[in-house]
Amino acid sequence: MTAIDDVITALAGQSYVCGRALGTVAFLALRLGRPLFLEGEAGTGKTEIAKALAAALGRRLIRLQCYEGLDAAQAVYEWNFAAQMVAIRSAEATGGTDASHLRDTLFTSDFLIERPLLQAMRPQPGGAPVLLIDEVDRTDEPFEAFLLEALSDFQVTIPELGTIRAPEPPIVILTSNRTREVHDALKRRCLYHWVDYPRFDRELEILQARAPEASARLSREVVAFVQRLRTEDLFKKPGVAETIDWAKCLLALDVLTLSPEVIADTLGAVLKYQDDIARLQGSEAKRILDEARATLEPAG
Ligand SMILES: Nc1ncnc2c1ncn2[C@@H]1O[C@H](COP(=O)(O)OP(=O)(O)OP(=O)(O)O)[C@@H](O)[C@H]1O
Ligand SMILES: [Mg+2]
Repeated sequence: MTAIDDVITALAGQSYVCGRALGTVAFLALRLGRPLFLEGEAGTGKTEIAKALAAALGRRLIRLQCYEGLDAAQAVYEWNFAAQMVAIRSAEATGGTDASHLRDTLFTSDFLIERPLLQAMRPQPGGAPVLLIDEVDRTDEPFEAFLLEALSDFQVTIPELGTIRAPEPPIVILTSNRTREVHDALKRRCLYHWVDYPRFDRELEILQARAPEASARLSREVVAFVQRLRTEDLFKKPGVAETIDWAKCLLALDVLTLSPEVIADTLGAVLKYQDDIARLQGSEAKRILDEARATLEPAG
């Protein structure tokens, strides 16, 4: 058994199905201490692998959810102005402390709000945490440049407190949906992996791991249908998350096998745009179901 297999097995223990290629970069990221950059389609397990890895390693998961306008105050730290004001007011009321003493106490860790990047630099009981920087393509370029800095030396300087350095660098996973191209400089610092939609067998394995209560027959039909659906010209193709959701909906409805009627009634679990749903009206759902069934035939 190689160390790559160990990573794949550990992830399987968290119901995460990891192929060889992803297992290899994950192993290398851990071994070399390099950030792992995962780019790919929506709902293909990019965020989930960070959760699974943290759970498998017994590490804390710290998540920085990126969005447009995210800045250092939200990502690293911020002073708790409200609490500082209260402290000032109560000092004034009691009339005790002089101004310089007050200044010393106001800028201490008691009044510091630690955000994910700073939290990730603090020692954790189980070892360095897993830092998930999720959907980095949603931030803007200045923040990306800032991240590049933070990821290169894992230290933060707070003027009033000094420099805080991670005793052991966190395990960093960045994800992107590629709504825009992330800068080369950031990518170069990381190990890169494109997470594609899984092939039939792997998707079936994922579905069985996440919805084991679904029968083999229904699972195979659902996966075959979704796989077939992805080859259609859709505005938004369904991810693995949709496959799992759909199977759970069908289970809740006690559906044993797919039919055009069942598909029409539950399509909202798979397709999230009205135009895509409209495309499957009429005979289209039946055509895709027939084609999906045809791909299942050889294996029974
Ligand atoms: N390889 C996998 N093994 C187990 N479960 C998986 C796998 N891939 C996806 N899933 C399931 O799909 C769901 C969605 O995955 P996840 O949230 O990681 O997608 P994502 O790639 O981060 O999508 P988005 O880009 O939309 O954020 C997970 O909650 C998990 O249940
Ligand atoms: Mg995600």
